[in-house]
Amino acid sequence: MSALRNPDPGARYHVELPEPDDFDFWRETARVLVQCGIAPDRVSWSEPGGGVDLFASGEENVPVPPADARPVRANRRFVSLARNAALHSDPTRFALLYRLLWRLQANPRMMEDKADLDVRRLEELDKNVRRDSHKMHAFVRFRLIESGDEEEAGEHYVAWFEPEHHILRANAGFFMRRFANMRWSILTPRGSLHWDGQTMSEGPPAQRSDAPGGDPMEDLWRSYYASIFNPARLKIGAMVKEMPKKYWKNMPEAALIPELIAGAQGREAKMVEQGKSVFSGEFEQRPDTLEAIDKAIHACRKCPIGQLDNHAVMGEGPQDAALMIVGEQPGDQEDLAGRPFVGPAGQLLDVHLEKVGIDRRAAYVTNTVKHFKYVQRGKRRLHQNPGAKEIDTCRWWIESERAIVQPKLVLAMGASAARGMLGKTVSISKVRGAPIPLEDGSELWVTAHPSYLLRLDGPAREEQVRLFDADLVAVKARLAELAG
Ligand code: URA
Repeated sequence: MSALRNPDPGARYHVELPEPDDFDFWRETARVLVQCGIAPDRVSWSEPGGGVDLFASGEENVPVPPADARPVRANRRFVSLARNAALHSDPTRFALLYRLLWRLQANPRMMEDKADLDVRRLEELDKNVRRDSHKMHAFVRFRLIESGDEEEAGEHYVAWFEPEHHILRANAGFFMRRFANMRWSILTPRGSLHWDGQTMSEGPPAQRSDAPGGDPMEDLWRSYYASIFNPARLKIGAMVKEMPKKYWKNMPEAALIPELIAGAQGREAKMVEQGKSVFSGEFEQRPDTLEAIDKAIHACRKCPIGQLDNHAVMGEGPQDAALMIVGEQPGDQEDLAGRPFVGPAGQLLDVHLEKVGIDRRAAYVTNTVKHFKYVQRGKRRLHQNPGAKEIDTCRWWIESERAIVQPKLVLAMGASAARGMLGKTVSISKVRGAPIPLEDGSELWVTAHPSYLLRLDGPAREEQVRLFDADLVAVKARLAELAG
């Protein structure tokens, strides 16, 4: 492949991406093209198998930037929107990205121009892709199949989903974390993902008929959905918008929707009469696996927090952990990542656990309230403390987790976590430093929440950090006693 050191000013270039979602390849190629001064109207882009521009030069003309080429400018906002927009199914997306990148070199503030048509289109692509991912998180439904293969004996869950954009690979991590202990496959017309509990592999596109249609789990799921369906929340227009009909055919519970809608008015009247229009009543059977809890909290709308635009965040860690660490509720970053304590409070927690020698990976880390409560301020979602009633409603789930994990010691961080464990509000300064016996023979230790430490500074922070570390040291010592 010969390189063009002085690109021919008239030459056109064609770039075929190796994969339709290969943003990194686009980025690297675009950087070279910009540094060689090749204007957007001289470049065409296609996906694998996409149409080829007959006037474009072949690969022998791959340009090489001059040694003194200036670095390419791309601000963080552009890169983050572009990374998502690259997954869109619009065939002109890579040309748009290149045009924007080119223009950014002359006008670094271009992304702030809300009226710019290219910027607006980029934002729209990003939004469509995020929405498609959100739908995938919400509407993928696994069906259980029994593997006939000797080597692969056991349960295998298979889901069929039809994404509008190239989001499959980008969402692999989400499903891997969420269903880490299951063997599953997600089949789509754009490709497939397979997780065997340890490794992820990719497969070719599939057809609807490759996925199983229904199984006995669906009856369970359907009755569960019927029990959690809250007619007080029923806004049919919004529901159809959020759960477009095209997904209904893959969702066992959707078969119930017409019937539930028909019965909703009557049920709502009854609920209002019972004073339960916001908090939607009793839970039914306690789930007996962590996977079942995970599934159930995603469908839980028992309190107003579950009605916000958020995702439930399940606890994580070994099922037989001796130590359970409980926080308040997921924050913005936890909501997006689908994992507890990954944001600033989680990072501070990690620092202190490491400092005192507690291995976070050996603990089961979870939250009292499973959804992120926030108020929207412009583009930001600001954390709101859950109310007592919300904590008390959500206790069902932390109690269910505790019944399965059976930790010897529970460390509740902050007042909400303490209330979640005890069912009443306590003062942290009064109860910290000593165990509180729990009804199952385990013990509860209470300490401050790491986000409280983050809000302090100066001597007040130093003092609280000292107390926090002392609580962790005491917990570590007590765990050693309980183990021995
Ligand atoms: N704060 C919490 O209480 N829990 C999290 O998961 C993150 C922040």
